[in-house]
This record gives sequence, structure tokens and C-alpha cells, in this order.
Amino acid sequence: DHTTHPFLINNEWLESKTGETVPIHSPDNGVQVGQVPAMSREEVNQAVNLAADVQENWAATEVHERSDLLHRWADELDQVADKIGAMIQKEVGKTFASAKSEVKRTAQLIRHTAEEGLRTHGSFIQGDAFPGASRSTKAMVQKVPHGVILAISPFNYPVNLAASKIAPALVTGNTVVFKPATQGAVSGLMMIDALVKAGLPKGVLNVVTGRGSVIGDYVVTHPKLDMITFTGGTATGQHIAKKASMIPVVLELGGKDPAIVLEDADLKKAAKEIVSGAFSYSGQRCTAIKRVMVTEQAADELVEKIREHVAALSVGYSTEEVDIIPMIDQKSADYVTGLIEDAVKKGATIVHEGQNDQNLLSPVVLDHVTEDMEIAWEEQFGPVLPIMRVANELEAVDLEKRNAYGLQASIFTKDMEKAFTLAERMNVGTVQINGKTSRGPDHFPFLGVKNSGQGVQGIGRSIDSMLRDKVIVLNL
Ligand code: G3H
Repeated sequence: DHTTHPFLINNEWLESKTGETVPIHSPDNGVQVGQVPAMSREEVNQAVNLAADVQENWAATEVHERSDLLHRWADELDQVADKIGAMIQKEVGKTFASAKSEVKRTAQLIRHTAEEGLRTHGSFIQGDAFPGASRSTKAMVQKVPHGVILAISPFNYPVNLAASKIAPALVTGNTVVFKPATQGAVSGLMMIDALVKAGLPKGVLNVVTGRGSVIGDYVVTHPKLDMITFTGGTATGQHIAKKASMIPVVLELGGKDPAIVLEDADLKKAAKEIVSGAFSYSGQRCTAIKRVMVTEQAADELVEKIREHVAALSVGYSTEEVDIIPMIDQKSADYVTGLIEDAVKKGATIVHEGQNDQNLLSPVVLDHVTEDMEIAWEEQFGPVLPIMRVANELEAVDLEKRNAYGLQASIFTKDMEKAFTLAERMNVGTVQINGKTSRGPDHFPFLGVKNSGQGVQGIGRSIDSMLRDKVIVLNL
């Protein structure tokens, strides 16, 4: 399919004057499923300028109207959940069931954002708390939008992780320049079509598509941007943070989330949670469990239970509604294979493996992974789970302290006192006690420290991040 899916500027669907396009290939079979315009810098400039031109008017719109737009958008999305789900499946190789549930989750997220947006407010401060001032000096602290927000979303949730930026930006009176990941861009454009049908005013959201090498740095350094919110790989996020200057940048990047399992844990539950946390969408989630640290006493039993669950995972193509689907592209699959080879060469044992077919990798469980192996530290973003055996929880804490990432961590134990003590020591955004690592529920704060990001998302916090204080002082 060589259909070109146009971008949106000023509520017009356009193709690039360059005539150039970027193809999108299905991870399932490599077949082309569409293409998006490769926009020029001039066209990107127009998209940003228009968003800047209309921003003041949009901010002046009453917040209940902006909130209503989001409610209508959620309703439109619900109606086309099957259609968008089918496109997500084609573009990024999710099964239809999980693709459709991504769209449904997004409609719920947008509704919740619409409600939360109504409840944002500033504060009122009396001056007499500081010597020299008196109560005749009063500050009204209002919450105002930053202006134009660039939202860049990744391939793994092309609809949900885009809307989780766009919805809070719109309800707070910011305008948006949306740059979807190329793989997933068509699903993202379909989601924006639903927003247009819901009544998006002209210019309030414009889309840019194309080659990162041509427009990437140009768009992130555009002088009319007031904020960037990005989800994607750590290297790209760090690059954006260096390029952007004097504007807030919210980043949600990679992770190397550990599951720490102590000997008193419910091992049956731990194994189930770990396998679903590590292998859903073939491990292509920032919040996937990416290494297990288990105390020696519990290790044999846990490994056997994990093996049983992994052996039961079905492997195939997204059209077959299986558990393990092909990785997004061959390069990512080769990277994972390289990590496995390095670990095996250095003495890791393979507990479970299967047949591979190009970018379709069967799930692999590696036991006896040690610190000298790359997979002990590198983010695999694929269907392989390394298990590290530790003498006790202190060794696990020590390993985690040296993690370059700091997104989430899971702790499995029945001893709540111990769980809380360990949780206090984890330098991560979120600690899950007796559950797998995961972003949701979507109104919880979601953040990563160290190489996992900066700033905080989750519905309420995303809204906060898109507003700033504006102080008006009354001198009576
Ligand atoms: O890939 C990063 C996502 O934010 C993870 O979201 O935990 O809902 O899969 P999830």
C-alpha cells in the first residue's frame, strides 16, 4: 500500500510540496502499509508559526469549552476504535485486541484529562509573611499556558502516548505541534482526524511528519516553541535536551526496571507478574521488567515458575492474536540477539528459547546473568529476560544503585516493612510492591530519574507541567 497520508496544518490535510515521502513497513512481514509526507523545513516553519499565531485566542477560550472539545474527541475516538486499532496493528505489529484497547484507554485518558483540566486553579498569597511587606500587598497567582508545545510520540503507543501529551496541552490553552514517530504516524493522523471532527479550531494543532535528519533539529530548536514533551529513546531525549534552550522539556525515556524477588515472596504471583511485565508487546515498553534479581534461596523455584509461564506464551504474527509478536524492525531484533550471544558467551544459561524468524524472536529467559554481561545493564527492549542471582536484598540494592536508568522497580516480598525499607532506597520514579512495573493507572504520576527522563507525567502532573505561574500583585 503506497497511499500517502497527509499532514494537518490549519485544519487542511496537505501533502508536502517536496513530493517526497517516508515509507512505513509492517513489522509482521515487511510489507509497506502506507507512507507519510517528508515535510520541508519551510512547511514545518509554517506549522509552528500557525500554532503560535492562534495561541492567544485559544488560551482566551473558556476552559469548559476546551474541556468539551476533549470530551467530543474521546467520543469520536470510541466510534473509530476498530478502524484505528486495525491501523495500529498494521503499522507497529500489535495484536488487534491490544491495539483496540490502546484506543479505548486513550478515550478514557482524554475524558479524565478533560475533567481534571476544569479543576486547575492558582492561589492567593498575602504579603505579610515576609518582613517589610504587609497584608496590603497581595499576590494573585494564576495558572497560564506556556504557549506552543511540541509533542513527540514513540512507535510503541502511537495513539496513547501522543494523546497523553496533546490532551493536557489543549485543555490548558496551549497550542500543539505534533510530531508522531514515523512508524505509527498513520494511526496518529487518524486520531487527529477524530479531533478535527470533534471541532478542533484552525491552527490549534498542526502535524509535522518526515525525516528526523531533515526536520528533527530544526523543529526542536524553533524559536516559537515554548515547551517540548518527548517520549522515546534515551539517546534522542538527551539530544533534544541539549538542543532545546530556555524552555521546559519533559522527557520520558528508556528503562531497565528490575524485579527484586525475596525468598519470602509469593513466588507463583511473582513469576506471573514478571512474565507479563517482561514480555507483553514483546518487551517493547519502557516500563517492561528488564532484569530480575532474586535471592539464591528462592532462585531455583522462581526460575522454574518463570520458565513454565514463558513456555506457554504463543509466538507468531500480530494477525494471529499471539503473545509474542515480531519486533518493530530487524535492527532492534539484531541488537537483542547480540545481547543474548554476549551473555551466553560469558556463561549465562538459557532456560528457555525457541525458533527465530528474522525480526520475530521467540522469548528467551537467561539465568545466571552476571555483571560483566551487557544485558545486565543495557536496555534490551525485546523479548528476553535476564535473571541475576543475589545473596541478599542488599546486593540487589547495590546493583540497582548502579543502574544508569531509574524508571520503576518491582519488589516482591510478604514482609511489608522490608518492602518499604527497600522502596525508600530505590532511586527510581515509581516502586511497585508485589506487582509488575507499569505506567497506569493513567492518573498516577509517572516519571523517570537518571537516564529515564525528567519532569513528571500522568494526567494531573502533565497538566501541571503545561502551565506556569503568572503573578499579579495588588498594592492597596
Ligand atoms: O513505553 C512506555 C510506556 O509509557 C509504557 O506504558 O506501562 O502502560 O505499557 P505502559
